[in-house]
Amino acid sequence: MLLSAGLQLAFLLLGSFASAERELLSTTDGPGQTSINWLAALGTGSAPIDLADPRLAANTAVTDAEQIHLTFVNSTAVFVSWSTGTAQNTAAPVSLDQIGTTNTTVGAANYTVKFGTSPTALAASQPGYISTYKQVYTGFTNSTTGAYNTNPALNYTSQSIHHVQLSSLQPGTKYYYQVPGSYGASPTLNFTMPPAVGNYPMTLGVIADVGQTSNSSQTWARMAAQNVQVATLVGDWTYADDYLTNGTTVYYGFPNNTASPALFPSPIGSYQPRWDSAMRLAQQLIGYVPMIPNSGNHELEPLLHGNYFTTQKFGLDSGLQFNSYLSRFPIPYFQSGGQSLFYSVNVGPVHMVRCTSK
Ligand SMILES: *[C@@H]1O[C@H](CO)[C@@H](O)[C@H](O)[C@H]1NC(C)=O
Ligand SMILES: *[C@@H]1O[C@H](CO)[C@@H](O)[C@H](O)[C@H]1NC(C)=O
Ligand SMILES: *[C@@H]1O[C@H](CO)[C@@H](O)[C@H](O)[C@H]1NC(C)=O
Ligand SMILES: *[C@@H]1O[C@H](CO)[C@@H](O)[C@H](O)[C@H]1NC(C)=O
Ligand SMILES: *[C@@H]1O[C@H](CO)[C@@H](O)[C@H](O)[C@H]1NC(C)=O
Ligand SMILES: *[C@@H]1O[C@H](CO)[C@@H](O)[C@H](O)[C@H]1NC(C)=O
Ligand SMILES: *[C@@H]1O[C@H](CO)[C@@H](O)[C@H](O)[C@H]1NC(C)=O
Ligand SMILES: *[C@@H]1O[C@H](CO)[C@@H](O)[C@H](O)[C@H]1NC(C)=O
Ligand SMILES: *[C@@H]1O[C@H](CO)[C@@H](O)[C@H](O)[C@H]1NC(C)=O
Repeated sequence: MLLSAGLQLAFLLLGSFASAERELLSTTDGPGQTSINWLAALGTGSAPIDLADPRLAANTAVTDAEQIHLTFVNSTAVFVSWSTGTAQNTAAPVSLDQIGTTNTTVGAANYTVKFGTSPTALAASQPGYISTYKQVYTGFTNSTTGAYNTNPALNYTSQSIHHVQLSSLQPGTKYYYQVPGSYGASPTLNFTMPPAVGNYPMTLGVIADVGQTSNSSQTWARMAAQNVQVATLVGDWTYADDYLTNGTTVYYGFPNNTASPALFPSPIGSYQPRWDSAMRLAQQLIGYVPMIPNSGNHELEPLLHGNYFTTQKFGLDSGLQFNSYLSRFPIPYFQSGGQSLFYSVNVGPVHMVRCTSK
């Protein structure tokens, strides 16, 4: 995927098949209708939004339940995910046996999603599980000199990231839902299930390299305004790996487009609070539209050692290199017998194969 932050691509594919009677087209018949071409103005890049900006900052006045998002499973199931509590980005050493992602099963009495087809009757509810992860850095190998630098970087401990699967849903039906927090519930959100497998038409939103700039915010908003029925992101969600662990950027994007070669991608870590902020920004679309996620090279955030050019500490799909991404998106690989970075789903008329674009 692209290395430059803020370079992004967004377009909508409108189902070009107006009625079910028409013979189905395939990709060999040429492209279907594209309703919105990508907006060149959004591809020029813009500077990351400041973390204190209301679009990126946590709003904990009413509830700590935030970063609400939907992951498509199949035409009758979605995952609802959200975060609660407080993340830590501190110098405190972290026990190495705690790295990676840990699942906790929680009781149905709390952390349970309420949902239903009427906003005033959210009777049904299902329990789920919580993922927490730690992004741990012990030091790094200098890619120029090969020397190991033991200067430790800050260590991140995530919020509780909740995942609840809603199943037995009806394709094409609107649902309302609400997620609980530690001291208050979220507002009632809504989503409409994509059409049943094989059904036309369907509007698919495709996005890539989105980041968290003012242009990124526009991209999410534009796609939400187009009423896409399902969305996919090809890869590169946050560019948190363009930062040192203390939040100092190592990539000077728009308007400079310069980077320090010794520092880019960040050799000593990533700034995980930029994941939290990016997920807040994304809620304007993926709180309402099921997402089919995919990973790119910017989701490759190795633990322990930051320099993935010289230190392939773990296998590609160990999960440890895609720790943040996989903790935040419950990939529905179990539907296709795939694995977290390589899977497929059936959605409306589409059989979508997702392979990491790393
Ligand atoms: C994208 O960002 C650039 C630079 O900040 C800005 O000039 C442009 O207006 C933005 N485009 C949109 C559609 O927000
Ligand atoms: C959809 O997913 C749900 C939940 O995993 C599962 O129970 C159901 O069998 C799936 N439906 C199809 C058609 O695969
Ligand atoms: C982060 O945790 C690792 C593993 O315990 C430790 O080696 C490192 O020193 C910690 N970082 C800081 C800044 O203390
Ligand atoms: C967490 O639970 C989910 C759902 O059961 C599972 O797919 C995933 O592999 C688990 N992750 C870990 C690290 O145990
Ligand atoms: C790596 O070593 C070179 C040469 O000493 C130095 O200029 C550079 O700043 C080092 N990189 C980091 C990230 O410390
Ligand atoms: C949720 O359950 C956990 C574990 O039983 C408990 O510690 C916590 O207080 C509960 N939270 C709420 C808001 O009820
Ligand atoms: C569903 O959510 C959207 C996006 O926030 C909102 O504009 C719309 O009013 C909601 N629909 C209903 C019926 O509540
Ligand atoms: C973060 O660390 C870098 C490298 O040590 C340093 O140059 C920068 O000033 C630090 N930034 C903050 C906000 O502490
Ligand atoms: C441009 O790059 C320099 C470092 O080369 C940096 O100090 C400055 O903050 C950058 N400006 C912007 C707007 O990113």
